[in-house]
Amino acid sequence: MSNQREQWGSKIGFILAASGSAVGIGNIWKFPHMAGQNGGAAFTLVYLVCILIVGLSIVIGEFVIGRRTQLSPVGAFEKLAPKTGWKWLGFLGVGSAFVILSFYGVVGGWILKYTYISITGGFANLSNNPEAAGNVFNAFIAGTWGPIFWQVIFMAICVWVIIHGVRGGIEKWSKIMMPLIVILLVVLAIRGLTLPNGMEGLAFMFKPKFEDLTASGVLLALGHSFFTLSLGMGTMITYGSYLNRKQNLLNSALWVIFLDTFIAMLAGVAIFSTVFALGADPAEGPGLIFVILPSVFPQLAGGSIWGTLFFFLLFMAALTSAISILEVVTAYFVDQKGWSRLKATLLFGFVITIVGVFCSLSLGGGINITSFLGMSFFDFMDYLSSKYMLPIGGMFIAIFILKKWGVNQFMDELKQGMDKSFLSKQLITVLFWIATTVVGFIILIEVLDVLFGINLIQ
Ligand code: PFF
Repeated sequence: MSNQREQWGSKIGFILAASGSAVGIGNIWKFPHMAGQNGGAAFTLVYLVCILIVGLSIVIGEFVIGRRTQLSPVGAFEKLAPKTGWKWLGFLGVGSAFVILSFYGVVGGWILKYTYISITGGFANLSNNPEAAGNVFNAFIAGTWGPIFWQVIFMAICVWVIIHGVRGGIEKWSKIMMPLIVILLVVLAIRGLTLPNGMEGLAFMFKPKFEDLTASGVLLALGHSFFTLSLGMGTMITYGSYLNRKQNLLNSALWVIFLDTFIAMLAGVAIFSTVFALGADPAEGPGLIFVILPSVFPQLAGGSIWGTLFFFLLFMAALTSAISILEVVTAYFVDQKGWSRLKATLLFGFVITIVGVFCSLSLGGGINITSFLGMSFFDFMDYLSSKYMLPIGGMFIAIFILKKWGVNQFMDELKQGMDKSFLSKQLITVLFWIATTVVGFIILIEVLDVLFGINLIQ
């Protein structure tokens, strides 16, 4: 089945595709407002520690499993632990892909719509009026057909890229879009910092305010490190499975982490410098992107150009992540069921879009599915994946390496393609134990809170 398996065309192609998966809505939308609301640099510092200790070990873990087996998650666990229940960890990944892409595709659609509004000059009458911008946004997402129309376009683009395969689709587009994302963000950050008072945005992002950092802020940072690095559902196993033994996996993992963090911070600088320069509210939270920015951009000279650049780069970031999620599902049906790529992608792209339609409609556009733990279906899918599925997946990947596959076997594969390394067996073991314990603790806190109302942190 795997004899004609596709491979990445180049080292850099793989790194850009993997960091394309990591860099997404999580970096440009979630990270800046989380940092803004949870102590600025104090939050960033905790986030960096989480990324370096927990994130790095799981990224390497997933790459190693994928490259060793040359299979996507279900097949990979089956190959390394035949006839055991470990393949269910792979199914958890495929399930997470359904859950995440259903709401991610909806947000992708919103971003496309905002790119379109910006190109056509539609932000002009929202200038300096966040309230009006808020009304426009809320009315749009609560609509029935509008958000679905844009979501379908976003998902169709996603399907189109995946149909073209690993090299001709994912790698080709990541190599074009990743550098463009960095260039556009640098331009926007320079524009923001050179505005009067723009530098205040830097202080807001980078001045540590430890008094604003709470225990739940620390949890948030850890949870976000899984989402932002696309960990815990086998995306990096799948991408690693298209690699040959020459790639240095430690080096690649460090690049992915560096680019992901760098872009999150650059996005924070670009957004907050502009927001401060124009006197808008930096603590707006999730509404920052769709509410504050549309009221801020028209105040700049050439505002519709800046707005268009921003939403277009956000679209590219969302797309390179969304394709990696769809690839997990496609690869499962290609590897395990022997389906053609075309059939798997078309069918499951369609199914996920339909689930996404229900996410979109739950925000007010018709069918009222709001009873999931008191949240809308849309919020529930986000909550279920970021708080449970990804951390649980990540924790079990670490446990799998420690307890089932064995650190020795793991090290054998990791060392392929590396001249020398400071990563000893002991260090790897300690890192995976730390990851398992810390993530297990976080999941416990969540479960105690939801099931028994016991709140261990505040
Ligand atoms: N890392 C992406 C982001 O930060 O937006 C989200 C994501 C992509 C999560 C792929 C999980 C995944 F498998």
